[in-house]
This record gives sequence, structure tokens and C-alpha cells, in this order.
Amino acid sequence: MSKTSLLKIDNLTISFPYGKSHLQVIRGVDLEVIQGEVVGILGESGSGKSVTAASVIGLTRDDAGRIDSGEIHFKGKNIVTMSGKDLQRLRGKEIAYIFQDPVGSLNPYRKVGNQIVEALKVHHLPCSKELVLQIMLDVGLNQAETIYDMFPSQLSGGQCQRIQIASAIACKPDLLIADEPISAIDASLQKKVLALLTDTNKKYGTAIIIITHDFAVVKHICDRVVVMYGGLVMETGTVKDVLDDPLHPYTRELLKCVNSLSNQDERLYTLEGRALGPSEYTGGCVFYTRCMNKTGPCHSEIPPLLNRTGGRQVRCLNARSERT
Ligand SMILES: Nc1ncnc2c1ncn2[C@@H]1O[C@H](COP(=O)(O)OP(=O)(O)O)[C@@H](O)[C@H]1O
Ligand SMILES: [Mg+2]
Repeated sequence: MSKTSLLKIDNLTISFPYGKSHLQVIRGVDLEVIQGEVVGILGESGSGKSVTAASVIGLTRDDAGRIDSGEIHFKGKNIVTMSGKDLQRLRGKEIAYIFQDPVGSLNPYRKVGNQIVEALKVHHLPCSKELVLQIMLDVGLNQAETIYDMFPSQLSGGQCQRIQIASAIACKPDLLIADEPISAIDASLQKKVLALLTDTNKKYGTAIIIITHDFAVVKHICDRVVVMYGGLVMETGTVKDVLDDPLHPYTRELLKCVNSLSNQDERLYTLEGRALGPSEYTGGCVFYTRCMNKTGPCHSEIPPLLNRTGGRQVRCLNARSERT
């Protein structure tokens, strides 16, 4: 795998309007994606996965979100300071985004085939009905001819998700961001959609960020995992390293829950307490209230994200040493 950096997010903070002021929801995210890599962003609901990912294509701008500090470099260009016009050019063509809600993300008034044609046209890419039908077949829409002329409301969630994926991969982007791509579709189709993403990665060398709250998804298709909590990255590493030897107490708790489920324990292990909302954080570690390993300083300090061996990173004052 080439080691060229494709996306590099440095110390990103994002806030949203809150009453008369702003509330910080992303508190200093650092994240890197290497060309051709598949990275999973994992964390419970509300941990900041979607807002972080949306900022990469400037969607937080459209959503009243404000980037207070930090940089997002894509192929060396800073997206934070990029003009709306340049950003528009990047969207779809170089960075494609698959939204969590497959039906709502399509235009309800346009036939789905035309929506894929449109995606190609916008970026001045070759487009013909034949080409679009082929892409639809590639993503497993077997009745492509019929589906081409249908509206999103006439299709299932899984079919709409495939249209989104078809649109995304038609432009052969360098980076594909998929936000919970299988959570809204039937279990029977989930593996197929994941396989489709893996195929896209292998066939075109497309780097993929897949957002999920499911370790099984990460294990299935990712090279590396980024664990988020409270608007911060808690731990990163190869999937094998993090799953075999989680260093952060939060990752360890998440894994205990997953293992308890797969062991079919009589009493399922659950993570104690609830994740705090952005308005509830004080100055300390964002995981403080639920942490089993906390000590005095954790109450008042946000620990830095520190590098460990093997390209791992962990944000915890009491993080465990790697097993040797
Ligand atoms: N448009 C918005 N306005 C205000 N707060 C938002 C908005 N979008 C997200 N948030 C808040 O930002 C935090 C992170 O949200 P999100 O990135 O969607 O979490 P995740 O994708 O990990 O479930 C949450 O507390 C959420 O309520
Ligand atoms: Mg989300």
C-alpha cells in the first residue's frame, strides 16, 4: 500500500449555534487517511462521527456548523479555507459521500437513473445510459433497465442505497465516505453492500471512510479503526491491534459489550452510564464520568492523543501499555 497521505485532519474543532452562543461538539479531532486505505470511524451515537466526516466535504458550512480551528488537508489543499466553488468541484468527483438515510438523500422527484447521469454530468465525466446501466448492474441492481426509470419512493431502502453507491463510485473518487451505510437496510443485504465497498476499494484504489457503531463492520472491511467519543479521537490503530489489544478504557468497554453479545451471555455486559451531551462537558476527559480507570487529573485535563508503537495512538492518562 502506498503511504501517501490523502486526507489529514489536524486539531479540528466545530461548534453549532446554541442559544445566543455556540456549543463545541468536535473538540480537536486529528485523523489521517492514507491513499487506498479503508478506515472505520467507530463510536456510540453522538460521539461526533458524522459531523467530522461531513466537514470533509464542507457540509457543516451548510448546516450552520462553524469550524473554529484546525485544518482539513485533502491532497495537500486545505478544505477549511477553500472557496465554495472549489469545494463544489471536489464533492462527488474526488470525495463522494454516501448518506445514512438512503431514501432521503436522493431527489424524490427525479428518476434514479437520471440522478446518476446528473452526478457524472456535473463533473464533466463521460455519461451515457449504457454506462449508467452497467454501473447499476455492477452494484447488484439486476433489473437495471426497469429501475433506471423509477423514482426513489418506488424502491426499497437497499435499492436506494445501491443507487447512492452507484452514483458515488461512478465518478471514481479518491475518497468515499460512507456514513452508517448498512444501518438502514435489511440484514440480508448488509453483507452485499459491504462487499461492494470492498470491491470498489480493490478495483479503483478508492480510499474509504466508513462510519459505524458496529465492531463487526470494522472487522469485516477496515484496515484501520479510529474510535471516537465526545467529539474526540480516543484511540487509533490497525483493526487487528485495536481488537486484540485495546488500550483505551472506552474501547475496552465497547469490546466487552460486543464479546458479551457474541458469547450469548445470559446477562449482557453493558457500558455503565450515558454519554454526556456537548453542553454537559466540563474541562476534563470526556469519558471521565463512565471510566473505570480514572484518577485525579482526569477530572480537569483533556489528555493529549499520544503516539504509540506500530502507528497506534491513544488519548488517556492511564492508558494500558501494549502487550508484548
Ligand atoms: N446541526 C446540528 N446542530 C446542533 N448540534 C448538532 C448538529 N449536528 C450534530 N450536532 C451535535 O453534534 C454531536 C455529534 O453529532 P454526530 O456527529 O451526528 O454524532 P454521531 O454521528 O457520532 O452519532 C451531537 O451531540 C449532536 O447532537
Ligand atoms: Mg452519525
